Amino acid sequence: MTSAAGGDEIAEFYDRHPYPPPIDDLADLERAGSPERRRFDHHRIWPARPVQDSHDILIAGCGTSQAARWALRYPRARVIGIDVSRTSIEQTRRLAERHDLGNLQLVRLPIEEVDELGRSFDQVVCTGVLHHLADPEAGLRALRRVLAAGGALDAMVYARYGRTGVGMIQEYSRMLGIRPEAAEIDDLVASLRELPLGHPLSHLLRTTRDFTDDDALADALLNPRERAYTVPEVFALLGSAGLRFGRWRLQAPYLPQCGALSVLPHGRRIAGLPIADQYAALELFRGTMVRHGFIAFRDDEPAVDVRFDDDRWRAYVPVRSTTAVAVEDRLPPGAAAALLNRAHTSTDLVFFVTSEQKRAFDLVDGHRSIAEISDDGAFFELLWRHDLIVVDASRGTSAGP
Ligand SMILES: C[S@@+](CC[C@H](N)C(=O)[O-])C[C@H]1O[C@@H](n2cnc3c(N)ncnc32)[C@H](O)[C@@H]1O
Repeated sequence: MTSAAGGDEIAEFYDRHPYPPPIDDLADLERAGSPERRRFDHHRIWPARPVQDSHDILIAGCGTSQAARWALRYPRARVIGIDVSRTSIEQTRRLAERHDLGNLQLVRLPIEEVDELGRSFDQVVCTGVLHHLADPEAGLRALRRVLAAGGALDAMVYARYGRTGVGMIQEYSRMLGIRPEAAEIDDLVASLRELPLGHPLSHLLRTTRDFTDDDALADALLNPRERAYTVPEVFALLGSAGLRFGRWRLQAPYLPQCGALSVLPHGRRIAGLPIADQYAALELFRGTMVRHGFIAFRDDEPAVDVRFDDDRWRAYVPVRSTTAVAVEDRLPPGAAAALLNRAHTSTDLVFFVTSEQKRAFDLVDGHRSIAEISDDGAFFELLWRHDLIVVDASRGTSAGP
């Protein structure tokens, strides 16, 4: 890699504080259950395309284990992991050897210079990285250049409002001249334990795994460079790089049809706004989103949307989320179950269903079409909005390319 990128303070930081905290072995879980998960993940991105698992995947800013996980999960795919940090690449290489991952190639290379690979990719995964770049737009444009026709970007950037407390403690740490070293981190942890309950950081300390380990804590609070994005800023970032927003990885928190607002007058009012404004309003209402995970596509290609406002939903095959669960106790009158997705962090995103709806949900097996299960397209639209299903539209006749 070039000396310019090698001298970057971010590379140095991640050499000393690799993220995620290094592990020796990828859990067996990564292999178990993968066919269902692969199918769900595939149709979340490409509803109308038959499942592919031998595609080209780039893990941009792979950290210590992400590229190895993907290579293990997609044994037939060709996976390339790039990162500026030598430690991250070395840790990933150890995992590749441990699990005999012949389909994984690792290159120490900055995202900004990804063209040097001379390759294009069906899927570019870039989570927790763009917000650390000196010029995120330039980095994203570089990723856009290596996105194959029909390819998808699967990205995550920090969200601004929910990270207010992080910004405050970052500034506090800068004022005190705290360095990302073990003794300094111990002192910081001791102070954080005494943060008053209402402090904007306290909900994060309680709920995220980013504060459970010293390197993760350094990553979150002592990172030399990071920014965070509001929903409109995510859209502006994508636009500047020639990309089109596809969907949120988990969409329910951004939708007025889900959660607490769905039964209030404001739910309907927000639903009347342009779609990007709906997402922005939900971010303001929720106030605690700490990251935005989204799928984006090249803006020179037509959108392939999941739609329930015409008849094509009948041919969709619903595929259940592997993290969807049905709870059957402590229910309100008339409800036969509470459907929820364990990956959601907002506790209001519960979908109460009647016994008839519960029966329909139980019939979702990844084979039957919606029409074969039920006539109630609106119910399946709500299941989809609540991240309880994605749809396989590849068997339909008119779902698009
Ligand atoms: C917070 S970690 C995220 C790791 C991984 N994507 C994940 O989600 O587990 C950020 C990673 O991005 C890498 N990174 C930062 N700037 C980069 C750049 N310009 N090009 C490539 N990698 C970069 C860092 O070295 C670090 O390993």
